[in-house]
Amino acid sequence: MSKKKFSVNGNLKDSLNTVKFLTERKQFINSAAAVLPKRTDDFGVNKVAKSLHPKEQKLIISRIEEHSNIAKSYYFKSEAAPLAYFKAGQYLTFRLEIGNSVVTRSYSIASSPASALNGEYQITVKRINDGFVSDYILDNWSVGDKVTAYAPEGNMTYNPLRDAKNIVAIAGGSGITPFLSLARAIDQGNEDCSLTLLYGCRTSDEILFKAELDSLSEKNEKINVIYVLSHSDEEGYEKGFVGADIIRKYAPEGNYSIFVCGPGGMYKFLEAELPKLEKERKYIRFEVFSSGKKTQEDAKEYSITVINRGNESVIKASSNETVLCAFERAGIEVPARCHTGECGFCRSKLVSGKVYIPEGEDRRRIADMQFNFIHPCCCYPESDLVIRIN
Ligand code: FES
Repeated sequence: MSKKKFSVNGNLKDSLNTVKFLTERKQFINSAAAVLPKRTDDFGVNKVAKSLHPKEQKLIISRIEEHSNIAKSYYFKSEAAPLAYFKAGQYLTFRLEIGNSVVTRSYSIASSPASALNGEYQITVKRINDGFVSDYILDNWSVGDKVTAYAPEGNMTYNPLRDAKNIVAIAGGSGITPFLSLARAIDQGNEDCSLTLLYGCRTSDEILFKAELDSLSEKNEKINVIYVLSHSDEEGYEKGFVGADIIRKYAPEGNYSIFVCGPGGMYKFLEAELPKLEKERKYIRFEVFSSGKKTQEDAKEYSITVINRGNESVIKASSNETVLCAFERAGIEVPARCHTGECGFCRSKLVSGKVYIPEGEDRRRIADMQFNFIHPCCCYPESDLVIRIN
């Protein structure tokens, strides 16, 4: 009798392997110890990790400081656990409920990292035209109020392995705060770099923290502060905008890194100016907190069908606002931190439709692009959309 040849194809092999795996798994479960292992939360290393990266922080506003009617500094204490530590240049993201909207907004931490160890954070909020969240904070937050923030995050920090030892910081408006934190940290001996701060404002009245910046610049040779006014001829200040010429004039000898924090307009201006310095891209870093708006003469209205854990809802969206803004307005909560496309927290699946992503703001991974995942914080609708948010 001839023997029959028997071959196992790929699918059958997979099924047999699965059955084998499940049988073994069952045996392991049956032979497991009756007593549960100790919770890893009790391990020292996990306690430290948790305090450095808490899921969220419950904060209380301990004091408020006015800055000539244009901005306010808010100081926070922790309601319970110690404050999470941070590096100078990082930001805090706050979660707010405003009417029916649930929004998150990020603000750079102005205080020095040492202040977190002493139980205090400081942020500074400036009034901006049509600033939905900033204006809400300025008009509503009071001493004693409780607010929710996530752990400090952000990459615009000095890292000796990556950055030159001299930092040229370009600040615009309230974008001064991460550099105030850095200047304070340098002065306290907690950062080993030097700082040349080019601070652009429209007029001298808009300069925030001038007395402290002048004092730091005077007493610490590692800190140099230059003010640049765009709408005033006052004596004692540079005039115009911070561009390649002013950077060349004040940058230290040798190599330096450039850090930028300010409004979108400044970012656009520098995009054309910085290439004139012929610096390697790795020595230039931006922190731009977007308002989620663009100006377009005839904004169009679209609908977004949002799929959230199997449930569908339809919301309205404008071509002038990011998809994340539309979610927030409709009270749909999507995890979000940076609002610049960088952190990936808001990552969602674009099931159908077309979105516009401004040049330079598409920071998705290649795999995400391929499978149509988007960062709603920097996408603007260009048609009706269907989006799955989890
Ligand atoms: S909030 Fe960070 S990528 Fe959208």
